[in-house]
Amino acid sequence: MRVAVLSAEAVPYSKTGGLGDVAGALPKALKQVGVDSLLITPCYLQTKGEYLWHTAIDDLWVHWRGTPFRAKAFYSEANGSPTFLIDAPEYFHRDSIYGYREDHERFAFFNHAALVLLERVGRPPDIVHLNDWHCGFAAVELSAKRRWDAYWQNTRTVFSIHNMAYQGVFGADELWKFGFGAELERNAFMSNGAASAMKAGLETADMLSTVSQRYAQEIQLPENAYGLDWLVRQRADRLIGITNGVDYDVWNPATDPEIPAHFYADDLSGKMQCKRSLLEQFSLPANLERPIFANITRLTAQKGIELMKQVAGEILAAGAYIISLGSGESRYEDFWQRLRDHAPRQVGVYRGYSEPLAHKIEAGADIFMMPSKFEPCGLNQMYSLRYGTVPIVRAVGGLDDTVQNFDLVNGTGNGFKFGPYRADSFLEKIYEALFAYADQDTWRRIQLNGMSEDNSWENAARKYVQLYEWTRN
Ligand code: ADP
Ligand code: GLC
Repeated sequence: MRVAVLSAEAVPYSKTGGLGDVAGALPKALKQVGVDSLLITPCYLQTKGEYLWHTAIDDLWVHWRGTPFRAKAFYSEANGSPTFLIDAPEYFHRDSIYGYREDHERFAFFNHAALVLLERVGRPPDIVHLNDWHCGFAAVELSAKRRWDAYWQNTRTVFSIHNMAYQGVFGADELWKFGFGAELERNAFMSNGAASAMKAGLETADMLSTVSQRYAQEIQLPENAYGLDWLVRQRADRLIGITNGVDYDVWNPATDPEIPAHFYADDLSGKMQCKRSLLEQFSLPANLERPIFANITRLTAQKGIELMKQVAGEILAAGAYIISLGSGESRYEDFWQRLRDHAPRQVGVYRGYSEPLAHKIEAGADIFMMPSKFEPCGLNQMYSLRYGTVPIVRAVGGLDDTVQNFDLVNGTGNGFKFGPYRADSFLEKIYEALFAYADQDTWRRIQLNGMSEDNSWENAARKYVQLYEWTRN
């Protein structure tokens, strides 16, 4: 089976969050289970030159906004699977990956160019796997093309929702510029008087998936789907949840090149060295018996920063450390900065994005906080499990599917999980975790329960193969 995966970001070429991790790892995992997979993603200013192996197509002529537009395509296998990177500096060589007024135009172009590239390559894929709103355009284009273009006749589409909160909404008067002037296509985009690329993908793809089973249920409710719950319900028989995997080639404490000492489920001594060095890196005193609470995230309302703000004082009063790595909304960046100024001997803050530091924190921390308001899947809780860093999460989306509450009587469970989006519910779990941490054997039990789990991509990739097969039939 031949599958082309399209994504706005993919590791190691680009990443702002979990979508990058997933789109980088899935094609590799698909290849390992026998799929002929191909990744297509933009080439950004941020994409390192060393990953661009060679120019595959120097003259990728794309008919765009009424005129011919010359793009290029680089080839690479830096993520472990064949990859084409669409090079169009006008659209993708910018200071950041997202955040521009014309993002919809940038990704509409990316989608169209990717399909031109697939035509140029010569053999149509069986499945085009589209990810998030950035790829909704290709779902519409393919469903239209299939009606009159023999090349695409046997190609089917899968559209994966990674986050319903971002829908790629823009003025419907622009649709004609991107080639979606016909009524049928225009209607696919229309949502509350504007065009929505997410809605277009949901409506026109042959099959839908999302990144956890729980989220597949949640987005059928009005409070979680930002106006599109009706459409998700309408197409629920075509929607499945497949929980993301972890790329253990990248996130593995036994081999991780970013951490100061390696460690294993049966020998955690290296983790203590990682903790010592993490405290040192943040200029915090080396009280190794005190737990480190950590958080690594995009600083947006989704991630429950408000709740962390409300419990931080209690964590500090218990004598623990807090370490935060993140960037995003200034109100949240300011909060972490203020907390550090308030307790400089207990709080470490790095404002920004740092891949190496993310690994060092996963390895050196004791407890990982993820009190998300909503969380389609979440990857850090699964990385934490592998690094013996016990997660405290809110029971939503993929967090609910991957974390089981620790049961002191039976010794089962890999973390702590609370329900209501309230500081007192979160605090209850923080106290439970502190209580468990105080007893070495109990804590070791929880760590081992998490470390021994297999959340590898192989399982998830097999489920995607099954989904692709259903989609073809
Ligand atoms: P989301 O995709 O909603 O941001 P996920 O938990 O799925 O959430 O994935 C987030 C990914 O981004 C993880 O790999 C995490 O380590 C990484 N990440 C987030 N913020 C930062 C940061 N400031 N520095 C380094 N890595 C980060
Ligand atoms: C989104 C979600 C996150 C998920 C990631 C990868 O960014 O917010 O929960 O893990 O996509 O699927």
